[in-house]
Amino acid sequence: MSPADLITEKRDGRAHAAGHLRDFVAAHARGDVPDYQMSAWLMAAFLNGLTSEETTALTEAMTRSGDVLDLSATPGTKVDKHSTGGVGDKVSLLLAPVVASCGVPVPMISGRGLGHTGGTLDKLESIPRLRTDLSVEAYKRQLADLGIVMIGQTDEIAPADRKLYALRDVTATVESVPLIAGSIMSKKLAEGIDALVLDVKCGRGAFMKTEPQARRLAETLAGIGAEAGTPTVALLTRMDAPLGRAAGNWPEVAESVRGLRNETGDPGSAGSIADVMDVTLALAGEMLALGGVAPDAGAGREQAARAVRSGDAFGKLLEMVEAQGGDPSVLEAPGARTQQAATRVVEAPPAAQGYAADLDAMGVGRAALALGAGREQMSDDVDPLAGLVLHKKPGASVRPGAPLATLYATEGSPRADFDEAKRRLLGAFSFAKEQPDFPALLMDRYAEGAWTGEEW
Ligand code: URA
Repeated sequence: MSPADLITEKRDGRAHAAGHLRDFVAAHARGDVPDYQMSAWLMAAFLNGLTSEETTALTEAMTRSGDVLDLSATPGTKVDKHSTGGVGDKVSLLLAPVVASCGVPVPMISGRGLGHTGGTLDKLESIPRLRTDLSVEAYKRQLADLGIVMIGQTDEIAPADRKLYALRDVTATVESVPLIAGSIMSKKLAEGIDALVLDVKCGRGAFMKTEPQARRLAETLAGIGAEAGTPTVALLTRMDAPLGRAAGNWPEVAESVRGLRNETGDPGSAGSIADVMDVTLALAGEMLALGGVAPDAGAGREQAARAVRSGDAFGKLLEMVEAQGGDPSVLEAPGARTQQAATRVVEAPPAAQGYAADLDAMGVGRAALALGAGREQMSDDVDPLAGLVLHKKPGASVRPGAPLATLYATEGSPRADFDEAKRRLLGAFSFAKEQPDFPALLMDRYAEGAWTGEEW
């Protein structure tokens, strides 16, 4: 079938034969189908959806567009985590060292920022000289030596997704359950892992805005994992407001260091990042249970919390940074790097009497984008120092003129538009006289084909 025939078939809402879809995806990965035809197909698939057979065929074709890695040289159950993407979601930076320091090997292949959401790779690369472009051999060696490695997609791993992901980012075709599921699972299945934990985000700042959509994505992802023989557990977590205080590149790394140094602060206290730790420890518990070092996720969570308190988890992050060419001393005194950035403080407007009632994660993500923390176009360079730190989150008392956030960007960066970032950030806040109530951040857990409605 020609690309135009496939586009017509999907445009008209018909299902493809699995073989036709596999050939089309493989041909695009090889460069035999141009991006403009793939873009048209992506939009048709976005609008008309894919059946579960098509989703499986898409995932298989993307997985097989490169190598499926063999990590058997590293003993133990290799477990990774993937988030469907949010604002301020720096959890991978904390989680991988926590889990690895507890004895479960974590081979993590991460992505770049997509749309308004940040990407782990862009954040990691804000650590001076740290390399995320290791060869597959170096990736395997580091995993065997340290039990942790965090890199970007290589040419060998799901190259089809690499091209599609970049194209979807700039063609408004990201927020689709089958396209997201194929993208995530092809990368994860090619990584050589034995088990997977997913953080499926739900809310205004997530790609899945509603709970039914997010549940469907979790079920689709876990179903693909089960079909491929890779045990997969999904947590459903809320992404209406940003996670933690920092959004952007270096600001999120600095916040992760705080978390790993156990400088989290009590929930509700000024500057608290207890929400980041809640999500991190819940996911860590699942990974330690899947990795066979904890009897269940609850016990795993306790073990993970101990690794943070003892400093083992932070030590593991430093080891990894050093092994990947970065300078660990920068992480021991993160404030020095933060101070290299140009800053602007955003103050509460005259109407801000009482409490910060609401904070739209999407608006905060867009403010970080305006500072240069992500890409508005495929070719944009990201600014490693760009981002922001929130001084007020929903529930905090506030009065006019109080600092709401500090914005950061490299001095003179051509990407940074502080005025636009301020406008977007102020637009994301709302204020109320009464202190608002909050629904729980951890919403549900999906494992072995069922929602188990955990108490955390
Ligand atoms: N994360 C991915 O890896 N792919 C998507 O499509 C969306 C989020």
